[in-house]
Amino acid sequence: MPLKIAPSLLAANFAALGAEIKAVEAGGADLLHVDIMDGHFVPNLTMGPPVVLSIKKVARIPLDVHLMIEEPDRYIPAFVEAGASMISVHVEVLPHLHRTLQLIHSLHVKAGVALNPSTPVNAMAEVAELVDHVLVMSVNPGFGGQTFIPRSESKIRAVRKLLDAAGNRAPIEVDGGVDVTNAARIVAAGAEILVAGQSIFGTGDPARATRELREVCNAFVGIDGPSPVRRDG
Ligand code: DX5
Ligand code: ZN
Repeated sequence: MPLKIAPSLLAANFAALGAEIKAVEAGGADLLHVDIMDGHFVPNLTMGPPVVLSIKKVARIPLDVHLMIEEPDRYIPAFVEAGASMISVHVEVLPHLHRTLQLIHSLHVKAGVALNPSTPVNAMAEVAELVDHVLVMSVNPGFGGQTFIPRSESKIRAVRKLLDAAGNRAPIEVDGGVDVTNAARIVAAGAEILVAGQSIFGTGDPARATRELREVCNAFVGIDGPSPVRRDG
């Protein structure tokens, strides 16, 4: 799968979301990462389905909705209705993870599991065949602009191994502290979707930052030979 760049709107100017979305789309973004926080699972609040619906109306690329909320089953249909194309749920809040993935699939949306930094990879072992993507949190969820946790690199490798053993080619998404200094290593570890908030919207030029994030990954892989990382493939 070609590398996908998913700018996280959490770091965007919320009073100018339409313009921010246009900018990253112009920079070649593949997905819009939308962080939903409830003030319970994580110590922060963001937005609900009505804002996601407004985003959907202006976005040309798919919405990748990351639910950092308790009892996600209660809200999943509303986020699907609002326009989510992919939904990630945290294994830490789900005693019935399998049922939740079935719910998302029944609504014809891609279903992913998210793992906190302290959550072992094995927490998703029993659903490895079912998932459409795995979101590896490389910071503790709740806030943008944190530093990438280095151990996440070996975790990405372990998740890839688990998915491969299950015969599942689902991509790994990495979220938190991704920037031009570490992106290529993260991709080399097996990530195929890079989420980036601060390193894209925190710059003066989100279009350019989106482009540069992809370029550093392509340049890095180019040194070692043929690459699965392509913009067009
Ligand atoms: C953190 C969110 C991330 C966040 C990433 O809880 O899930 O998506 O926006 O932001 P940066 O790239 O700034 O670490
Ligand atoms: Zn996120």
